[in-house]
Amino acid sequence: MISVLFVCLGNICRSPMAEAVFRQQLKERQMEHIIEADSAGTGDWHLGKPPHEGTRSLLERYGIPYDGIRARQVRIDDYNDYDYIVCMDSNNERDVRQLFGSKSDGHTKVFKFMELLPEIKTDDVPDPYYTGNFDEVYDLVSQGCSRLLDKICEEQLNRTEA
Ligand code: 4NP
Repeated sequence: MISVLFVCLGNICRSPMAEAVFRQQLKERQMEHIIEADSAGTGDWHLGKPPHEGTRSLLERYGIPYDGIRARQVRIDDYNDYDYIVCMDSNNERDVRQLFGSKSDGHTKVFKFMELLPEIKTDDVPDPYYTGNFDEVYDLVSQGCSRLLDKICEEQLNRTEA
């Protein structure tokens, strides 16, 4: 199984949205048996909580399930347990790299979500906990998740051919 971990600050707004949207895309492409997704936060304020009301109502509007998604904090073992660790902003990337320590230095399995969308000149997925704009996040998340799926397929295909 190929595994993806989305990381944000609180694990109630952006990364659970990405997890739910990505899972939905996996379902649509019938790839759920090949790739799995989870999410976590660098902070510990919302442990065990379901996604934020803004993320829930947005996902409901698009008919995307989010049942079972609960906030958890990122842990050192996540570095070994996941193949792709996708950070929603620059601070999240800095914080997980600090947690993982030198073994993650320069390793490309940890990267920023917006690197999936280089045509959009923004480093960070804006945090709707502060902006209130969940639609803007959905727009980026849906495009980026689709790009992530393409990237994974391409990389795994190359691995099979090698
Ligand atoms: P998220 O947003 O990182 O996208 O889940 C936040 C959620 C909660 C807090 C900050 C950001 N907080 O400070 O509680």
